[in-house]
Amino acid sequence: MGWNSWNSFANVVNSQIVQQQARALASNGMKEAGYEYVVIDEGWWLGERDAAGNIVVNPRQWPAIQPGQKDGDMANIAGYIHSLGLKAGIYTDAGRDGCSMYPDSGPKYMNTGSEGHYDQDFLQFSKWGFDYVKVDWCGGAKERRSGAVQYAEIARAIQNAETITGRKLYFSICEWGSQNPWFWGPGVGGIESDIWRTGGDIIAPIVDSLYDAEHDKRTITAGNVLNSFDAGLHPEAQHTSYYNDLDMMVMGMRGMNDALDRTHMGLWDISSAPLMVGSDLNRLSQATLSLLTNKEALAIHNDPYGLQPIKVDEPTPGIQIWVKPMAIAGRRAIAILNRTDGSSQVKINWEKLGLKDTPKSLRDVWDGRALDTVNATVSVPAHDLALLIVDGEDKAPVEYPANQNNIIGIQARRGLTFTRLQYANTSGHIVVLRVKSTSGLFTALALPPTIGSETGTVGLILPSGTADLSFDRQLVKIRELDAYAW
Ligand code: GLA
Repeated sequence: MGWNSWNSFANVVNSQIVQQQARALASNGMKEAGYEYVVIDEGWWLGERDAAGNIVVNPRQWPAIQPGQKDGDMANIAGYIHSLGLKAGIYTDAGRDGCSMYPDSGPKYMNTGSEGHYDQDFLQFSKWGFDYVKVDWCGGAKERRSGAVQYAEIARAIQNAETITGRKLYFSICEWGSQNPWFWGPGVGGIESDIWRTGGDIIAPIVDSLYDAEHDKRTITAGNVLNSFDAGLHPEAQHTSYYNDLDMMVMGMRGMNDALDRTHMGLWDISSAPLMVGSDLNRLSQATLSLLTNKEALAIHNDPYGLQPIKVDEPTPGIQIWVKPMAIAGRRAIAILNRTDGSSQVKINWEKLGLKDTPKSLRDVWDGRALDTVNATVSVPAHDLALLIVDGEDKAPVEYPANQNNIIGIQARRGLTFTRLQYANTSGHIVVLRVKSTSGLFTALALPPTIGSETGTVGLILPSGTADLSFDRQLVKIRELDAYAW
């Protein structure tokens, strides 16, 4: 969760802007709500290196902020962000060239990528004090590289930098879904946490200070938001620590309205997608801010299983019921998405959510109201989204005991199936476990350590079919799988 400079500042980003945005984040309630990263996207560097290959930046764009600092040192801005109790993020490309200001006007700069300098650059980012790095794919695509290979090398460079500096450098892969990163992104290069973009840019940036004809035409539509959501659904790839990235958010930006803000926030929350807000934080309305900081919506987003939702019903075309299985037994988040031009009364069928009739409680997240679970009918205006939490009792799962390193004969014939995997990991550290199934699952799990005889659980969504699941490591003892087919 955090802020990213691209959507609203594109290549005009500089120290002043980043400081202002960081101050806004620290003081408008977002920091308290959990937004912590301030990420500087493309435009911070114009491709210059010194004779030793070290990145050189424009000293006027990144001047000293405190007495005793040197102009042109990125450690200045990272330190400033840290001084507000926030974390700092930076950006590069996996290829030789970066996106070079695309899609904005201005001169093109070559060599703004890290290829040939992976170890040097990622160590430099970490030494400057950055905690997060987004790695784009313009150069990689131009050179027709393999994303799986390049990003694994980068993941190793990041882990190497982390070992040297002792500072975590969070890995954000931005390959736009072009080479199916949901198959290789989770745990790429052995990394314990990462995110990968699943599609192209939600919008071309809208930069207020540019006042040019091109920018004046740009506006956001419902299609921008819904397309990013639709393109981002790869629930089998996403578990605790590994997330599909639906792109930076455009909350409150030109073209957005309250209903679309709600839809955007609701879809990103129920998907546990990164919440990297791309708006100018000094221009957010109170309504947008209160959506972004809605505690219950964020609790859905931050659910420890971190799963994407499953579409359980579409009673009429364009009225969709999306359900997110949560870590607390019997709890589900529900998004009722109305993609149509008319308002709709939607009745929820508990059986389709894998719950016994009738749940204990149902709450509307936006206004905190309790709803009747017997009637269970929700009214959703045109092009809007209702976000709900239900607490009930799970129908009994089918249990599959584990063998040494596999679980066989799992029946997931009704479609995507929610499962809880029970394990013990007494190694004292996170173990990255490769998992595959005969029904086409191919992913990795980052399993947090457990203590003594304690059982850890993680959520896993299996593709449809009869599956034998297998695991690549013996360090972890897999105990059992509970499958909840809805
Ligand atoms: C690509 C990425 C965007 C942004 C721009 C910068 O388009 O997908 O998120 O980083 O590059 O040029």
